[in-house]
Amino acid sequence: DDGSAGEKGNVISALCKVLEENKIDMIQTCGPHKMMEAVATKAQEAEVFCEISLEEKMACGVKACVGCSIKTLDGMKKVCHDGPVFDSKIIVDVNPKENLGCNCN
Ligand code: FES
Repeated sequence: DDGSAGEKGNVISALCKVLEENKIDMIQTCGPHKMMEAVATKAQEAEVFCEISLEEKMACGVKACVGCSIKTLDGMKKVCHDGPVFDSKIIVDVNPKENLGCNCN
């Protein structure tokens, strides 16, 4: 972040600079949810297709539980079966269980 190696600033400031200076067709991101949310927002503002790769806690890994469920515009999806890569525009909530006050992790 301090610029001692590469760009000074965070991922979003670097992304803004790249988007300003280049013609970008697609962004692919992984990492912390808040960072991916910010990347997806910037991509949408710049009208650039964006895919996010979710790394959720997986209890079964074979679509048998709801441990990795996310809410999308196409309904609930399971990261282990339907992902882990999703079009950022369809993601509504990557932590639906948290927002329901559910203790099922
Ligand atoms: S980890 Fe159980 S459904 Fe995805």
